[in-house]
Amino acid sequence: MRIQRTLPPAAAPITINDIFNGIKGLRRGQAEIENFKADIRKKFRVRHCFFVSSGKAALTLILHALHRFSPDRDEVLIPAFTCFSVPSAIVRAGLKGRLSDVDPATLDFDFRAFRNALNPKEKLLAVVSPHLFGLPANIDKLQDLLNDSGVAVIEDAAQAMGEELGGKPLGTLGDIGFFSLGRGKAFSTVEGGVIVTNSDQLADALQPVIQKLVGQSRGRPLKIAAYALALSALTKPSLFWLPKSVSGLKLGETIYDPHFPIHPYSPFQAGLARNWQKRLAAFQAARRESVLHWIKILADYPWLKPVCLENDYIKDPIPLIRLPVRVQNSRLRDAMLDISKRRGLGIMPSYPTPVGEIKELGLVNNGQFPGARQCADDLVTFPVHGFVSPGDRRRIVAGLEAVQA
Ligand SMILES: Cc1ncc(COP(=O)(O)O)c(C=O)c1O
Repeated sequence: MRIQRTLPPAAAPITINDIFNGIKGLRRGQAEIENFKADIRKKFRVRHCFFVSSGKAALTLILHALHRFSPDRDEVLIPAFTCFSVPSAIVRAGLKGRLSDVDPATLDFDFRAFRNALNPKEKLLAVVSPHLFGLPANIDKLQDLLNDSGVAVIEDAAQAMGEELGGKPLGTLGDIGFFSLGRGKAFSTVEGGVIVTNSDQLADALQPVIQKLVGQSRGRPLKIAAYALALSALTKPSLFWLPKSVSGLKLGETIYDPHFPIHPYSPFQAGLARNWQKRLAAFQAARRESVLHWIKILADYPWLKPVCLENDYIKDPIPLIRLPVRVQNSRLRDAMLDISKRRGLGIMPSYPTPVGEIKELGLVNNGQFPGARQCADDLVTFPVHGFVSPGDRRRIVAGLEAVQA
């Protein structure tokens, strides 16, 4: 255990004041949730919004709803490199995953491989397209290739709440989308999943299922309040060494687990979200500035390539939740991760393997996904959240210099 300033890889801070708001929310009950819902509908310009306990719960319920309308279609196409929660949700929904390779230069689908992976289309229910780390995926291109084939586009905006592309909010570009409000996302209420859609048909299918969740597990708000209290203290760099040194917490690990719970969202969490637009905008401003800073600094290190520079359809600086960076070779990457761990710099690996290597996962197609393999082998992420101080930036640069030397 190293007692030292330690940066979390990502952070959306929760303060004591937010927790007081959570308690007020708890006292107001369902009205607090309805308020938050109305806010979301307005901000994201959508007709329907639903809350559940997590992003993966949101995805599971979306898949259930889609499957109701197309019972003959039971396959879901996902990138071979994404968060393991995505295949977990597909299996939880009783469906099968199909994979397409990704382009390591953009972290989006490799659209040549995608075109092949689309066929046969008859069994394909949906495509899940994630905005990894907040990097906007090319949903327009995906929709062109789908060409009205009856396959739904689910936008996985788990990591991209509040971002826009061409003036349109991410999460609202496909048929249906979802955000995660888990810790380390763009904005957090400890945990949570938000579904957004303009489809009345899908909303009608989702409404009764989510309604049925209401009233379950009364002790949960208390558990979440305790967790919020712990997070408000322990995600600060002065104390993050403590949870980081508890290996049982598995911080930063992505886990395949199709047995996750699906709970209702609580008024306490909706209360925690009070002033969310102002707070999210402030988090984004800090992250955007930090992304620009690292892009400038990393230009001096030719063995490090920020992925966002290679995404040519992205014009403006993006408030990523972590800056994904490709490292030229595994020796440099290992050295960098080692220094980061020893010095508490918050530079972390991304997902450990391509999705296809999850042993328990029964996939429709499995084979070689060189793009996904390369992402798993080459990527690290730099912290860009508001806790990163000028001193931390200097410590990170000193770490890079040590690796380079
Ligand atoms: C891309 C992506 N999709 C889905 C999820 C699932 O969200 P949650 O953790 O709220 O279940 C995550 C969470 O990390 C994610 O990063």
